[in-house]
Amino acid sequence: MASVVDLLKSHRSIRKFTDEKIPPDLLQALFEAGQAAATSSFLQGSTIVRVTDPVNRSKLAELAGNQKYVETAAEFLVFCADLKRPGNFCRAYGKPFEGDFTEHFIIATVDVALMAQSLVTAAESEGLGICYIGGIRNNPGPVSALLRLPQGVYPVFGLCLGYPDQDPEIKPRLPVPVVVKQDYYNEEGDADQIEEYDEAIREYYRTRTGGGHGISWSEQVATLLSEKSRPHMKAFLADQGFVFK
Ligand SMILES: Cc1cc2nc3c(=O)[nH]c(=O)nc-3n(C[C@H](O)[C@H](O)[C@H](O)COP(=O)(O)O)c2cc1C
Repeated sequence: MASVVDLLKSHRSIRKFTDEKIPPDLLQALFEAGQAAATSSFLQGSTIVRVTDPVNRSKLAELAGNQKYVETAAEFLVFCADLKRPGNFCRAYGKPFEGDFTEHFIIATVDVALMAQSLVTAAESEGLGICYIGGIRNNPGPVSALLRLPQGVYPVFGLCLGYPDQDPEIKPRLPVPVVVKQDYYNEEGDADQIEEYDEAIREYYRTRTGGGHGISWSEQVATLLSEKSRPHMKAFLADQGFVFK
């Protein structure tokens, strides 16, 4: 059996799945593994909506930017940050609800990510493939309406889960010294290492696109950060009750 380290290092997103269903017992075990993740202040501020209705799956695929695998994966889960469930108890205990602080938003969002990644690791250890779907934030309002998300709950990302019908290459990550700094933040030596890494990424894309033009990591992220990114999110979060104080 591969070590957990080897398992984690073998991750690659899967975007093509077989028709095989995930056995209910395994799915239950994956949910429990996700729930076992650490949770800030024991808030347990995450809710998963498992979308089984094929019509809704198809609508979500479209809302996520026509990502077909949202429809075709064995399972599609929407991971939501949830301040409503714990917030309900403010009323029950006669306390004011102050859940609209930026800090609470961070806590719930981090909880969701930790739960999802634990579930993902468990899933990959069982031979399943996954793809996170941030694309649902292209249309967070319609997605929330479809899933009947109340105030205090917002969809952070989706997750496709299923048995892989492809075997893509592992996408190389930045060299560790670029990402891990000793004692203080610095950028010493980063430029040379990123230049080398850019070449590895160009090669990765060339191979993946069958010899097509490979784009470097640095150019890709520069483009990303030079463009407006889902500018509707601020107003959407305010509408859902995540008004930042
Ligand atoms: C929060 C999050 C959202 C993502 N959203 C999408 C998405 O909407 N569609 C998609 O095809 N991949 C999505 N991805 C997958 C990333 O593109 C992928 O993880 C990254 O390119 C690294 O590739 P790898 O997972 O194969 O190592 C997302 C990943 C994360 C963590």
